[in-house]
Amino acid sequence: MLLHIPELLSGDEIRQARQALEGAPWADGRDSAGPQAATVKNNEQLPHDCAAAGTVRQLVLRAVERHPLLLTAALPRKIFTPRVNRYGGDTPFYGAHVDNAIRFRADNGERVRTDVSCTVFLADPAEYDGGELLVQDTYGARGVKLPAGHAVLYPGTSIHEVTPVTRGHRLACFFWIESMVRSDEQRRLLFELDMAIMKLRDRHGECDEAVALTGTYHNLLRMWADT
Ligand code: NI
Repeated sequence: MLLHIPELLSGDEIRQARQALEGAPWADGRDSAGPQAATVKNNEQLPHDCAAAGTVRQLVLRAVERHPLLLTAALPRKIFTPRVNRYGGDTPFYGAHVDNAIRFRADNGERVRTDVSCTVFLADPAEYDGGELLVQDTYGARGVKLPAGHAVLYPGTSIHEVTPVTRGHRLACFFWIESMVRSDEQRRLLFELDMAIMKLRDRHGECDEAVALTGTYHNLLRMWADT
């Protein structure tokens, strides 16, 4: 499932993030790529321990924790330390690759299985040309390029790439989520059920059917979730 999360960050948070990134110490992006990915990766990333990365990371993690759509879609169990990257100039793309299945958090070395990938756009589409995130799903490639502050969730299992930026710079924050529900298919079913129950309540208020379906939702979650 590929899901657009509108306005994960507010306008004010975007301004804070962009301010933090002015004069930030960009480094070669290949230091975090696996052997296959490193051969096709040509972008820049911020070191985990720099102040700018810390500011953006904090803004993004706080936003994730308060965002119901993201939480219900991803059902997070663990979140990998968010990273910040930049595409443009001599380092404009990241070719087709798959992300490593297991990553290690920067702060405590904890293992995180990369079930769900999240990209948070930090530059507006008008600021750069190219730089589309292309995600292969069952029905072919889907291109994603969203306004600053918006995010996209996509399965960690998918092959994906960032097309070359030919003007300006594309800034983004990205991270992985280990979900309580490992299977993308099961997560999608739970998400669709949850959305349908919410719409049912909006239309008819609390009713016996909504209570029964909420029970079904939680019983499926109990059956499929690892905590
Ligand atoms: Ni990737």
